[in-house]
Amino acid sequence: MKGPAKQLMKFVCAAMASAMVCTAFVTLGGCTDPEGNGKEPPAVLQSHYLRDIYEDYFSVGAAVLSGNYARYDEAGLMAHFSSITAENEMKWRFLEPAEGDFSYEAADELVSWAEEHDTAVRGHCLVWYKSLPAWLAEKEMDREEALAVLDRHITEVMTHFGDSVYVWDVVNEALHNSVTAAQLASGDIWRTGQEASGDGCVDWYGLCGVDFIKEAFRTAARVRDELGLDVKLFYNDYSLNNPNKRMAAVKLVETLRADGIPIDGIGMQAHYRLPSYTADPEGFMKNFEDSVKTFTDLGLEVQITELDLCVYASNDTPQAFDALPLDVEIAQAEMYADLFSVCRKYADPKREGKGAVTNITTWGVADDHTWATNSAHREYPLIFARDYSEKRAYTEIIDF
Ligand code: GLA
Repeated sequence: MKGPAKQLMKFVCAAMASAMVCTAFVTLGGCTDPEGNGKEPPAVLQSHYLRDIYEDYFSVGAAVLSGNYARYDEAGLMAHFSSITAENEMKWRFLEPAEGDFSYEAADELVSWAEEHDTAVRGHCLVWYKSLPAWLAEKEMDREEALAVLDRHITEVMTHFGDSVYVWDVVNEALHNSVTAAQLASGDIWRTGQEASGDGCVDWYGLCGVDFIKEAFRTAARVRDELGLDVKLFYNDYSLNNPNKRMAAVKLVETLRADGIPIDGIGMQAHYRLPSYTADPEGFMKNFEDSVKTFTDLGLEVQITELDLCVYASNDTPQAFDALPLDVEIAQAEMYADLFSVCRKYADPKREGKGAVTNITTWGVADDHTWATNSAHREYPLIFARDYSEKRAYTEIIDF
């Protein structure tokens, strides 16, 4: 027996055993105060929770919005996760809405909730070209000023959160949207110009060149050292399963390392689409695994930081169904299972000189709230359904 059947059987057996023990206690006059008899329920009773099932592999997380996690908590869903990411509340525009004036209320609430629930917090994100406050997007800055603004923000935010955050996405999305072979060969891999423009955007590369990435990591490492923090420093981006973009990320790592600047890991966002997997499951998984292998071979940690699997082919595909069809749900579950399986394979930190996969985080908790739902269609990218029931994706990822 394997997978969910095994997990379920363990769960049922443990529940039965516990009920029998309890009946015996009651018969003997015990168990009158089930909360207060000083005994913890057997650990195996928790085994339907992802965080327990994956305990020996990596932490399992979800991104949450401050207005949402209370209701997921009430529904019992948050108990699955050993790590959470603020979907928005740690972005620059929330933390520093006016220059030098920091606003931590929503993020602090999340951190307190996490501490009370023995849940770790992924810090997302210190430097990004977008989701910036208006004062910053509109600020006239030269190179020196831009680097100084970055330094101040990183120093202040890391100091505030200290050890409450176990990993920071220091820089998010500094590479081209997609990287061509010619761009890779010529070194033209950095997001700039049109790709870094729009409301609330700053073209950091345009202002500072690659120094903005170096400075961000250098500053983050300095703060970590000065405060003695136990925090990992990550680069985070999307499409890192694409071979060219993967190698562009390797160049980024090499660029930092050449200057002795520390980087601990790569965040693979993993906003994927089901049709790109079903068209060629083996090819898709090979690209994904090649990236995980390449990064861990460099001695880096890998975290799958924003996993969601959209069932529609593109953002503007018109709505084709009002509820998730069974065959689509099954295919999505297979894709989830394959991704988790590769990650388990690279979770062992004992591989000499190599890094490991240390976290998988879904970008959201349940299909009732996802950034992927838009005016063209309702999306279904997560492992829990709109009514908070477990989808096949959930049953497949515990099936190993
Ligand atoms: C990017 C960012 C996330 C989030 C998602 C979806 O991947 O890193 O913070 O904004 O887009 O909205």
